[in-house]
Amino acid sequence: MNSPDRSDTAEPMIQLANVTLNLRSAAGEVNVLRGIDLSVAAGEAVGLVGPSGAGKSTLMMIAAGLETPTTGRVRVAGQDLTGLGEDALARFRRDHVGIVFQAFRLVPTMTALENVAIPLELAGRSDAFEAAETALANVGLGARTGHYPDQLSGGEQQRVAIARAFVSAPRLLLADEPTGNLDGKTGETIIELLFGLARDHGTTLLLITHDPVLAGRCDRVLHIADGRIIEQDARQAAE
Ligand SMILES: Nc1ncnc2c1ncn2[C@@H]1O[C@H](COP(=O)(O)OP(=O)(O)OP(=O)(O)O)[C@@H](O)[C@H]1O
Ligand SMILES: [Mg+2]
Repeated sequence: MNSPDRSDTAEPMIQLANVTLNLRSAAGEVNVLRGIDLSVAAGEAVGLVGPSGAGKSTLMMIAAGLETPTTGRVRVAGQDLTGLGEDALARFRRDHVGIVFQAFRLVPTMTALENVAIPLELAGRSDAFEAAETALANVGLGARTGHYPDQLSGGEQQRVAIARAFVSAPRLLLADEPTGNLDGKTGETIIELLFGLARDHGTTLLLITHDPVLAGRCDRVLHIADGRIIEQDARQAAE
């Protein structure tokens, strides 16, 4: 094939077709996702909203290649994830996807700088620490690079997580409640940062949120309930 990775904006960044996920638990089988069809264009910002337990985080994990659906097709950043092995999925994530988890998931024994640099270094980037310095400066933490997570506020930890997600210039950023643990003002700062970085990098965004302000910043909002997409609001994207 002709360099499908470099591909043009014509192909959607995320394509899910009839994705289902059934999990077995002690209480029986749970139909977590019940037939999801979803297409997210390159450069689009899509908000994902819905009640607790609806399947939002699970859907994000599938788009990240961290969870394998029971049935259906998953195509992300020009790659068909169906049938890829663990190594190929790890490479896919490293090359194309940034993830911001609700609980930050920073490594407590590493400084802010190391948290951002280590994934790059593992990926073989010789400029890992320089790139991490720049990424932390971009989120306003240039003076905090030597601090450990427990020496940082919640908002600062989330900014480190965002620096880590953006440092490899991913084409797709997946964020699960990026403002969920933050007070309103700090949350707004994080939102500005996310959308500003996404605009600068042309990043496609899939954002899970309960925050109407954050959802309102997206081009489109998907409502998910009981494992299904039940509604889509198209919004006028602010220029
Ligand atoms: N490993 C598992 N085994 C069984 N059920 C699971 C498992 N993981 C998730 N579930 C179920 O799948 C459903 C969807 O979970 P998910 O975490 O995607 O919800 P969510 O929409 O992100 O909710 P929240 O807003 O609370 O984060 C829930 O009912 C949950 O109990
Ligand atoms: Mg969740």
